Amino acid sequence: MDAQHWDEMYRNREQVFSGNPNPVLVTEITDLPPGHALDVGCGEGADALWLARRGWQVTAVDISATALQRAAAAATDMQGRVTWARADLSTTPPPPGAFDLVSIHYFPLRRRPGHTTLHRLLDAVAPGGTLLFTTHARADLTRTEDLDPADYYQPDDIAPLLGPTWNVTVAATRPRTTPPPAGTHHTHDTILRAVRLS
Ligand SMILES: C[S@@+](CC[C@H](N)C(=O)[O-])C[C@H]1O[C@@H](n2cnc3c(N)ncnc32)[C@H](O)[C@@H]1O
Repeated sequence: MDAQHWDEMYRNREQVFSGNPNPVLVTEITDLPPGHALDVGCGEGADALWLARRGWQVTAVDISATALQRAAAAATDMQGRVTWARADLSTTPPPPGAFDLVSIHYFPLRRRPGHTTLHRLLDAVAPGGTLLFTTHARADLTRTEDLDPADYYQPDDIAPLLGPTWNVTVAATRPRTTPPPAGTHHTHDTILRAVRLS
């Protein structure tokens, strides 16, 4: 699933996602005071925009130029509050310790030897900052010829890797409150929320 794959996915449809923020983001982050957020794999930008409208300064990163163009076009009222950046986060790490919130929703975070990509995303959280990582629940995922869900991290893989400098505040699987994405059977989300203590 490289840049071409994702860009084609977006180009094949006028709009892929609903334009609404992910409900897990809204549930978990509404009460958090605004700071600087990193939206990992921001897609068409609904989460980044929701955060910006609540006072967050947002860095929104995606590998797809098409997704980012759509996101920026929807964000004209939020100029200066969101930085849209094209990058492959598996090879270009975000700046360490820079974000009060690292928000990762339905991002295909592929396992790497030594957990390098994962650790770089975790390192981006500032001391006192929050990690919010949401995936489709494991039970909803099926292996296909092209894709093996076991190649990607789930929240319950990550929690044991966090160590003593983190406090896990949510580790849960919950029913989705919105319909599954078109063409899928996803009924549940799995969520990890953790605070970096130092
Ligand atoms: C399933 S979509 C989720 C989009 C958005 N977070 C949401 O919940 O609506 C995954 C997103 O991650 C982006 N992506 C996939 N691999 C990436 C990578 N290595 N670096 C940056 N973005 C990536 C894709 O282009 C896509 O927009």
